[in-house]
Amino acid sequence: MRQGTKSSPKEAMEITELLHQDHQKVRDLFFKFKNSENKQEQEKIVEAIITELHIHATVEEEIVYPVVSKEAEDAEDLVEEAETEHHMVKHLMAELSDMSADEDHFEAKVTVLCELVGHHIREEEKEMFKKLKDSSADLEELSEKVMARKEELEAMPLPSMQSTLTIDSKKSAVKSQSGLSAARRKKTA
Ligand SMILES: [Fe+2]
Ligand SMILES: [Fe+2]
Repeated sequence: MRQGTKSSPKEAMEITELLHQDHQKVRDLFFKFKNSENKQEQEKIVEAIITELHIHATVEEEIVYPVVSKEAEDAEDLVEEAETEHHMVKHLMAELSDMSADEDHFEAKVTVLCELVGHHIREEEKEMFKKLKDSSADLEELSEKVMARKEELEAMPLPSMQSTLTIDSKKSAVKSQSGLSAARRKKTA
């Protein structure tokens, strides 16, 4: 009899585990970058980091963060902070996507990106994951949605990183406008 093999369908994974796996993948890529001295290889690793981070940030912003805001207690500030960190990360990704590894500041920008991402991941895993687990959100259903969206994004060509910044500023404009009109409604009520 074979040991350790299960014929039952793959167990559903909770969203926190799925996101953690993505985080680990990016950490490993940064580690690989630090240990590489070959410029061509470094460029390839940075391309992989940008692709991974783009897909991961997109599913978090489209699917995970709205659920955290809605279902978790006192999570608004945490989500806004996470969105702002994504925005800073995207700025660096936009710059790096137009650079070659032998340009000045290439390595410095990757180092700062690694630090930013490291800080962001630690906060998500320490605070946001806990809030998600304590909430009434269905963590397995959320994971299925994220997996489906990731598959879609993986099949698409990577957009220009500059364009993701434009989407970000449009989103904040809509947000602040709706915030403004909500404040006005409150005032006039
Ligand atoms: Fe994130
Ligand atoms: Fe994340």
